[in-house]
Amino acid sequence: AATRTFSIIKPDATKRNLTGAVTKMLEDAGLRVVASKRIHMSRKQAEGFYAVHKDRPFFGELVDFMVSEPVVVQVLEGEDAVLRNRKVMGATNPAEADEGTIRKAYALSIGENTVHGSDSDENAKIEIDYFFNEDEIVG
Ligand code: CMP
Repeated sequence: AATRTFSIIKPDATKRNLTGAVTKMLEDAGLRVVASKRIHMSRKQAEGFYAVHKDRPFFGELVDFMVSEPVVVQVLEGEDAVLRNRKVMGATNPAEADEGTIRKAYALSIGENTVHGSDSDENAKIEIDYFFNEDEIVG
């Protein structure tokens, strides 16, 4: 059945005018954009979103990066959306990302890695709810 996942096109990508190129790769992978908005995240918003990483050594760097430029937050729909999206994103570290993935094509480093995608159905729901009201999602 069609399910949903949550995606962020990160500052390294919006800065290089890659919103369309990244979205095309998501669409070509069988995902539909059912909600999308370009926002400049506040520090509070970024800290809240990444709260699970707050004790990691890279947390400060991660938050600084995510508020450095606008991002595009999206809800994606498709068959097994979470898995499908993770597959087309590629490994977190672009050095380990497979050919044909978004991160292989565009990511600059483990931090500046072009996209975020939910890692489970449970987190997808939490992350979608963090940025979108149900009436902003149009399937
Ligand atoms: P994301 O899927 O958005 O969720 C957490 C992010 O932390 C991850 O993508 C990476 O971009 C980032 N991250 C993970 N490890 C490191 C690291 N060692 N240094 C900087 N950022 C990191």
